[in-house]
Amino acid sequence: MPANIIVIFGASGDLTGRKLIPALFNNYKKERLPENALILGTARSVFTDAEFREKLAQDFQKFAADDFEPDTWRKFAASIFYHPGDMTREETYTAIGKRIAELGGEGANCLYYLATAPRFYPIAVEKLGANGLARESDETGFRRVIIEKPFGRDLASARDLNRQVHKAFAEHQVYRIDHYLGKETVQNILVFRFANAIFEPLWNRNYVDHVQITVAESVGVGHRAGYYEKAGVLRDMFQNHLLQLLTLTAMEPPHAYEADALRNEKVKVLAAIRPMQAAEITRQTVRAQYAGYCQEPGVDANSQTPTYAALELFIDNWRWQGVPFYLRSGKKLAEKASEITIQFRDVPHQLFDSIQEACEPFTNRLSLCIQPDEGLHLRFTAKVPDQGMTLQPVDMDFHYRDSFGRGAIPDAYQRLLLDALNGDAALFARSDGIELAWQLIDGIDSGWQGEHAPPLEVYQPNSWGPKAADAMLARDGRCWAHGCGTHNEVQS
Ligand code: BG6
Repeated sequence: MPANIIVIFGASGDLTGRKLIPALFNNYKKERLPENALILGTARSVFTDAEFREKLAQDFQKFAADDFEPDTWRKFAASIFYHPGDMTREETYTAIGKRIAELGGEGANCLYYLATAPRFYPIAVEKLGANGLARESDETGFRRVIIEKPFGRDLASARDLNRQVHKAFAEHQVYRIDHYLGKETVQNILVFRFANAIFEPLWNRNYVDHVQITVAESVGVGHRAGYYEKAGVLRDMFQNHLLQLLTLTAMEPPHAYEADALRNEKVKVLAAIRPMQAAEITRQTVRAQYAGYCQEPGVDANSQTPTYAALELFIDNWRWQGVPFYLRSGKKLAEKASEITIQFRDVPHQLFDSIQEACEPFTNRLSLCIQPDEGLHLRFTAKVPDQGMTLQPVDMDFHYRDSFGRGAIPDAYQRLLLDALNGDAALFARSDGIELAWQLIDGIDSGWQGEHAPPLEVYQPNSWGPKAADAMLARDGRCWAHGCGTHNEVQS
């Protein structure tokens, strides 16, 4: 049985201790790691193997204490090793190559994880290639690379990075992470749509009025201003997570649950999103910043970086022509809530006194609740008993915690690491998908730099964002839904 070596670059960093090691440990505990799995961490900090294991044990207890089990950890930690080295230097790769051979022997499989600052991605892939560490053969076993987000900062840099990656690795060796795809509820979008026959006949322009995708966060920028100031909400959340949610919601059924079949369909959706010209950018986008953002540590006092955005997108194909997809995401909002709401059309002729006041409360609405209360809600209209013909919206709910038990949902990295080890790229982004997503985001971002840019609105922390985002929907007689919440509708 060849060894399976997971080589983590940037192993002394936050991601390794907070996410990667707990995820690998949980897979080990569930006996899902391939036999003979070894972890080799590398970074500039100097640790012995023993010191590195000790540091990881401390991080683990800090970030994921509930999952830590000292006895299991001791067994697991025996397969963790460390090599101190500067990843910009050739000798580090020679030494890593030697260490791989010592630890894994003939035919070891290697999964490289780039958990470093993005500026090191091109260097790492180039040097892995130049040192023969990316070459796959029967003698060497597989060679795969996982690349963390952000993958580029615009179309040009993403293309450059793809070019550099492809010089060393073939596309089938590359796993670009979007941790949203590792979430159970995100994968459940596919199961819900394609393993049930009830909704799919309605899932189109004939029955759907519009779709809303909300990824709201209650936290602010925290200590990540250095990165966030350059990224802003479009690059941080839309180019990746929100567009992934949109493609899974809007795609055609793939012919098989298989990486390329799935990703082909997702790419078709991205290619069909209508690009926006200046006039649409003014009308169909909102950008905003939370009050107090400029006083956060590390943020420029005059920063124009948006921490919130709302977009109205259209998908130019037969299924979705004319159906608006409203997307919004922001920091320091009233709640952490990620959800997708499919708003079905109203009845063609209302027999009863309408319960609609302005645009709420919505009925005929399906909400896929991504987090934190994972599940789904279907809202329809019911007759209130003993009150004549009084109508009221009611919810039919499914909650993961009720059906599968509390704690049934693992962290996204568990699934993604396992899939990469098993060679299943279905839940990873492909180069063409990444580039199409950047093309769309670049268009909006350059519109936001131009003379027709919508103003940078200000919103209060703990609110549901700027009034302009409500106005964008109100113009079409609609309002933002909060279909997974305990209360009825979002109040801005
Ligand atoms: C990350 C962003 O990709 O996703 C963060 O960089 C954001 O800014 C995070 O907070 C949100 O992830 P989740 O899983 O908490 O919704």
